[in-house]
Amino acid sequence: MRPVKVGLLGIGTVGGGTVRVLKRNAQEISRRAGRGIEVVHAAARDLGKQRIADMQGIVLTSDPFEVVNNPELDIVIELIGGDTVARELVTQAIANGKHVVTANKALIAKHGNEIFAQAQSKGVMVAFEAAVAGGIPIIKAIREGLAGNRIEWLAGIINGTTNFILTEMRDKGRDFADVLKEAQKLGYAEADPTFDVEGIDAAHKLTILAAIAFGIPLQFTKVYTEGISKLTGEDVSYAEQLGYRIKMLGIARRVAQGIELRVHPTLVPYRRLIANVDGVMNAVLVKGDAAGPTLYYGPGAGAEPTASAVVADLVDVVRMLTADPDNRVPHLAFQPDALSDLPILAMDDVETSYYLRLRAHDRPGVLANVTRILSDLNISIEAIIQKGTMDGIATVILLTHRVFEKNMNQAIKRIQELPTITGDMMRIRMEQLSAN
Ligand code: HSE
Repeated sequence: MRPVKVGLLGIGTVGGGTVRVLKRNAQEISRRAGRGIEVVHAAARDLGKQRIADMQGIVLTSDPFEVVNNPELDIVIELIGGDTVARELVTQAIANGKHVVTANKALIAKHGNEIFAQAQSKGVMVAFEAAVAGGIPIIKAIREGLAGNRIEWLAGIINGTTNFILTEMRDKGRDFADVLKEAQKLGYAEADPTFDVEGIDAAHKLTILAAIAFGIPLQFTKVYTEGISKLTGEDVSYAEQLGYRIKMLGIARRVAQGIELRVHPTLVPYRRLIANVDGVMNAVLVKGDAAGPTLYYGPGAGAEPTASAVVADLVDVVRMLTADPDNRVPHLAFQPDALSDLPILAMDDVETSYYLRLRAHDRPGVLANVTRILSDLNISIEAIIQKGTMDGIATVILLTHRVFEKNMNQAIKRIQELPTITGDMMRIRMEQLSAN
């Protein structure tokens, strides 16, 4: 059979890696897919740029629309990123009857519902394994491997940059800003570092994971997102002393009232495997009712790890080219007409435990006032430590049991109004992530 012809949009790190992997493993890949897979047409902004792959045999253009309108191509790989031009290109490729493979998390998280509906009506596939956690086949694991489970919750380290920053802060006692600069120099960070640091990148990925886990539409705007820029080395170290590590987690949990969707720094008991995922590595912990907790670990970015996911999608698409379009694996794991409208919970209604750090004048009764406010709001304390006093100001760390976010917000407001409390209180949510 003739090889499947593929067009490539974007020949940067991941695009170059994809061409390299397709060429190097051509034989293995065609033995798996049943046909050869060849990139024959590729678009890049700067045609003169040095490439990490041998581009021989590939027609290059600076006009990506030339690729999506090329009638010879069966599949288009979109690696441009963002949700403006990339969205137009993907829409055009689908309209032209082409299958699409993309690594574009923002595009899928924000516009996936419309893109999948369009793809469904045209009978083509849109595959996006590379959009979440790079080399980890997490989409396939949840969508297919765990298809027999009712997924209860998942929690993931799905942004390598923030995990690298938190690891460096913990291991070397370095400051946030200083480590961020290094991460940018090393090329880990997104073009706009706020996407990493403020949790937007992780929220894109969490949106996709939650849709596939629970059979709900993609709802990026409903993710609660809090970044790591306010974390201090001091909090990282206090958490450690209390037996916890701070991880930037994306959490999606099914509760009686609906679905929790949240990205924020989180204290995790240091004994959990996920608390020991360091540097730029990613990991996703999924709790299914039948399988129990399963953990997926690996590189979340980089040329060949991400190419590994892109090529796996290509192989899937090639295998499915001849399959009945109505009987393919659904884009969001559940049949499109069987998606559920479970509500996404407002953050106020989410229940977690908390780490609180406050600074108070070291006088009699100060702590009693704080604990009274907590008890008035039905907040139970799990642990409390007072650190040394400096210039008459004591640092107090409190761990609480589970409490509704709205009660904690009220408590923080009232505590901060006490005349004996100075500066802003620090609040970090905690998750036990236990298998029960
Ligand atoms: N900036 C992302 C990260 C790249 O740090 O994980 C992969 O999406």
